[in-house]
Amino acid sequence: MAGFTFSPHPVTCDGVSPAALAAAEGTPLYVYSAALIVDRYRALDAALGAYPHRVHYALKANSTLGIVRLLQSAGSAVDANSGGEVAVARRAGVDPRDIVFTGVGKTAAELEEAVCIGVGAINAESAGEVDRIDRIATARGVRARVAVRINPGIEADSHPGIVTGGPEHKFGVPIEDAGAVCRDAAGRPGLALVGVHAHVGSQLTSLDAVARTASTMARFAQDLRDAGVALEHVDLGGGLGISYDGSPALAVAEYARTLVEAVAPTGLTLLVEPGRWIVGPAGALVATVVDVKPQRDGRYFVVLDAGMSELLRPALYGARHRLERLNERSGPTVTCDVVGPICETTDVIRLGQSMPLPEVGDLLLVRDAGAYGSAMASNYNRRALPAEALVEGGAWRMIRRRQTVEDLLACES
Ligand SMILES: Cc1ncc(COP(=O)(O)O)c(C=O)c1O
Repeated sequence: MAGFTFSPHPVTCDGVSPAALAAAEGTPLYVYSAALIVDRYRALDAALGAYPHRVHYALKANSTLGIVRLLQSAGSAVDANSGGEVAVARRAGVDPRDIVFTGVGKTAAELEEAVCIGVGAINAESAGEVDRIDRIATARGVRARVAVRINPGIEADSHPGIVTGGPEHKFGVPIEDAGAVCRDAAGRPGLALVGVHAHVGSQLTSLDAVARTASTMARFAQDLRDAGVALEHVDLGGGLGISYDGSPALAVAEYARTLVEAVAPTGLTLLVEPGRWIVGPAGALVATVVDVKPQRDGRYFVVLDAGMSELLRPALYGARHRLERLNERSGPTVTCDVVGPICETTDVIRLGQSMPLPEVGDLLLVRDAGAYGSAMASNYNRRALPAEALVEGGAWRMIRRRQTVEDLLACES
């Protein structure tokens, strides 16, 4: 596949030097491989084979317009989680029918818009939301396409902050109540119940929860059909994990086979909502060392110009991303706590990194930062959102310019 090459040095992204890119555009800077994003989308699509299916890229992983456009032109549909993501999808040229609209707390305005444009499915979170969608659609004299998001009560093996399918989690309708909610939805004049939906967590690295969710949902859908409810699809959400440390991850072929085998007996179209797996390995964050501080125990703080405002995952989940040096440095290997510049102790990029001591001005590259990186970036400490570059066909172009102070203050008086 295309993408980043880390050895031999120097690091490249599809033939382009991230160091040269940083020299031209400054840091912090996200760099993405267009070819790898498209390759990964196609690999997942191909793994699902001839069985009727649709890949709805989960915008929450990375909704920068240039990336959404890229995936849209490769043929992907989308999963949107807010009115903002629906708007980005439409700006990128996504047909409303190719949007599934998920979200725990959809506002009245978001539901109005989704009904009005006619999204492919609104993944309804509750009996109350089913009722609200029905009222909106009835008032407009249309039938809204809905799927019911079901919480199957399956605890996936992942970080506690990103598992969503257990009984204690806020997502969806508990499976014990879901039959009644679906039958109610199917009988409403303003609704067409087109599917059932589940998403039990992100960064799943074993097949167990995937297989149990797929078979539970297929059985549930079949029971509904046996009860006379005509469905079109089973949406099994996203979640396929990637390797952040280089160890083998769940293979896409095995993941796809598990889903297809479970859903095939129903004959229903299989929908998936992958985010991280498609864009995670295709993006990296380039940052500059702005300070090097010895610690009393022989370690060093290496302070970057990027931190939790550019890449929140280490602070939020204790995530560990691999780092690459873009400058060759010889000298003894020392232990570095690579941290950000923000006034929070949790503002780390990677603790305990062994490497030759960098110098101020050196560049470091944070690997596998394409998902939940720029999408979670914030203006905390009044920091400008980072710039983003897309490498395509041996050249690069900016898909997001760095924010300015004027941008930061644009909404304030
Ligand atoms: C409903 C839903 N679908 C899809 C995804 C994408 O998950 P991932 O990026 O792990 O594939 C998420 C992320 O948590 C989600 O909440």
